Amino acid sequence: MSLVPLDDRDGVIWLNGKLVPWRDAKLHVLSHSLHYGNAVFEGARIYGGKVFKLTEHTERLHTSGRLLNMEIPYSVAVLEEATKAVVAGNDLTDGYVRPIAWRGAEVLGVSAAGTKVQVAIAVWPWPAYYADKAIKLKTSRWKRPSPESAPTASKCAGLYVLCTLARDEAIAAGYQDAFMLDYRGQVAEATGANLFFVMDGELHTPTADCFLNGLTRQTVIGLAKARGLKVIERAIWPNELPKAQEVFITGTAVEVTAVSAIDDHAYEVGPITKSLQAEYAKLVRA
Ligand SMILES: Cc1ncc(COP(=O)(O)O)c(C=O)c1O
Repeated sequence: MSLVPLDDRDGVIWLNGKLVPWRDAKLHVLSHSLHYGNAVFEGARIYGGKVFKLTEHTERLHTSGRLLNMEIPYSVAVLEEATKAVVAGNDLTDGYVRPIAWRGAEVLGVSAAGTKVQVAIAVWPWPAYYADKAIKLKTSRWKRPSPESAPTASKCAGLYVLCTLARDEAIAAGYQDAFMLDYRGQVAEATGANLFFVMDGELHTPTADCFLNGLTRQTVIGLAKARGLKVIERAIWPNELPKAQEVFITGTAVEVTAVSAIDDHAYEVGPITKSLQAEYAKLVRA
């Protein structure tokens, strides 16, 4: 991954309706969302010049905003065109797209009334996240909150405070990512990806009722069902983990990544994981 800081690059960023030079895409330090965590964002990938599931990602950005009572001032159609323009403007064929919407600096206080919503879309090259290697997860002490305590279906910046804490603790302990439980003690997800378990030829995944129902998760469920695999969405408890023969995570950034261990328990990178990895890789470039 490039070490060039993200605020000091050549290229263009789409900001509130137009492409601006990369280094000019700035916001004021008194922006409401910087203080109160209420920005919403997306992460999509560009494969061969095309953004995979662009409409779904753009619609989810709108939904994320709506869940925070934040109406995004550009339609899905306008944001899709803007994304295509910024991909072309940076001459990118493969990479990552980061749209973000945030509340401006018109007013500062816990209430967001009176703030104006701003939107930016940036793209940059981003190779495979784990270079196709299997990763180790460490159970986190941080728990995903109840939907009664947080807008858990929104890809809201503030919710990532937990993910950053969990992930950095896992990395410091020699793992690649955290394994997160929810407020009930059930298996939830990793810090930026959903979890799947192969148990006796079936695919089990936690019901997405307090975390993001990832677009990759939905795509992989579709791929698995299309090849006749039984997919079971249900409450999964941590004491069931030794019963799994294979574990993998899914997400736009990580795509389909095999898990080789959760804490001390090791897993093989098995045939179901490998074939879903291959099918996903084919689909995104189709
Ligand atoms: C917390 C979290 N869970 C799951 C996912 C996977 O979602 P998707 O497959 O839509 O990228 C992401 C990534 O966006 C995420 O940040």
